[in-house]
Amino acid sequence: MVKILVVHGPNLDLLGKRENDVYGNETIDAINRDIKKEAGSAGEIEFYQSNHEGDIVDKINQTRADGILINPAAYTHTSVAIHDALRAKNIPSVEIHLSNIYAREEFRHKSLIAPVVTGQISGFGKDSYLLGVRALITILGGTRND
Ligand code: DQA
Repeated sequence: MVKILVVHGPNLDLLGKRENDVYGNETIDAINRDIKKEAGSAGEIEFYQSNHEGDIVDKINQTRADGILINPAAYTHTSVAIHDALRAKNIPSVEIHLSNIYAREEFRHKSLIAPVVTGQISGFGKDSYLLGVRALITILGGTRND
């Protein structure tokens, strides 16, 4: 079984109550439940949400997970610190976005995170997370027995 850390960045605690036309109706708890279901017996998942950049950096530095699924939210576009933490950690990681960041305002088109992750999935709503966890388990060589 592979260990996966799921990191949700700022304001994602408001999912289901925030810009539902952009981010969907589901809460973070509902999304987490479906990520867990998707991983099944292949993955042991820890969920973490923070609105604070330094806390996210600490979490990445300290994790003992085999891989990271991260929606850095607004920090995607600003955070050299999260970029550096992921680069230093150097384990398989997937950047997730519910919305298609390239189809939105110009300031969202640039990701400082993309160059230091294994890959990015953007624009599929909740399915971005489900596709991402699947990809991460495959990269890590995990298998489901259920
Ligand atoms: C987001 C896209 C970001 O631009 C935005 O700041 C978010 C959510 C997404 O999942 O689509 O908070 O990461």
